[in-house]
Amino acid sequence: MAIEDQAGKLRRLMQQARRTRTIAVASGKGGVGKSNVALNLAILLSAGGSRVALVDADMGLANIDVLADVEVRANLSHVIGGLRRLEEIVLDLPSGVQFVPGANGLAKLAHLSEFQRTALIRQLGTLEADNDVIVIDTAAGIGPDVLQFAASADNVLVVTTPEPTAITDAYALIKVLHHSGYPGHVSLLVNLATDRHEARTTFQRLSGVARQFLGTTVYDAGYVLVDPKVREAVRRREPFVLAYPRCPASRCMSALATKLSAGGMLVGREDGFFRRVTNWFA
Ligand SMILES: Nc1ncnc2c1ncn2[C@@H]1O[C@H](COP(=O)(O)OP(=O)(O)OP(=O)(O)O)[C@@H](O)[C@H]1O
Ligand SMILES: [Mg+2]
Repeated sequence: MAIEDQAGKLRRLMQQARRTRTIAVASGKGGVGKSNVALNLAILLSAGGSRVALVDADMGLANIDVLADVEVRANLSHVIGGLRRLEEIVLDLPSGVQFVPGANGLAKLAHLSEFQRTALIRQLGTLEADNDVIVIDTAAGIGPDVLQFAASADNVLVVTTPEPTAITDAYALIKVLHHSGYPGHVSLLVNLATDRHEARTTFQRLSGVARQFLGTTVYDAGYVLVDPKVREAVRRREPFVLAYPRCPASRCMSALATKLSAGGMLVGREDGFFRRVTNWFA
């Protein structure tokens, strides 16, 4: 192989390796553990050597700042309102994660206009320059904000619990993504599982239905056991993987982080987060 060819190949490989992966954590049903998963996953990926940004994109009830115990002066509502630039609101968490605080209920941003949403996602695209992974925590439900954040990401990590209501809502989310032509990677995480068997059954039910009725593959992201330490950590306002690194839920999160980063489950796409935003729901 000629030197130039080799150099070209190497350059392409480097570019590929550097490409930022975006992962949106979504659920359908509320209260299934999305924000805890997003925060603790971001911390573990960062501890594993990746440069990680965590975006709280819950436009109604942003609360990662509460979980991580950080004081927020300005948040995404200020960026959307044109009062701050994105880089001005980014906070460095002690874990090394770059945190973008979301708008809380008081900011009355529960529903963005399409123009605001597109502008916001475009701005978030600038995070790609400095990060290997962008983790986006979304709101519950399948409203337009959630769908656009999810659709703009390379990967959607759908969180469910073994409860039928959560499974139904997770399926509804997967179905809308599928019908909108989402080309990314959808995986399922079963949170609040009593044991491995229950998690397995839940995954098989949902992925089976998605295969049968939508003809789509839902990848297995694993599970997180129900663990009283999670509640304790939330009460202490500490991420549970830091407060109780050896508790069952933390071990499950480590398995998830390893699976996502090592197993190639975290896919990247050619076009980049912000460039593909305008193609959605146009
Ligand atoms: N594995 C777990 N074991 C025990 N409790 C858990 C676990 N995961 C989450 N919880 C509990 O569930 C609560 C809700 O979690 P979290 O706020 O992360 O959910 P959410 O999906 O982001 O909610 P929302 O839809 O309101 O944004 C937590 O405060 C915690 O008490
Ligand atoms: Mg949440």
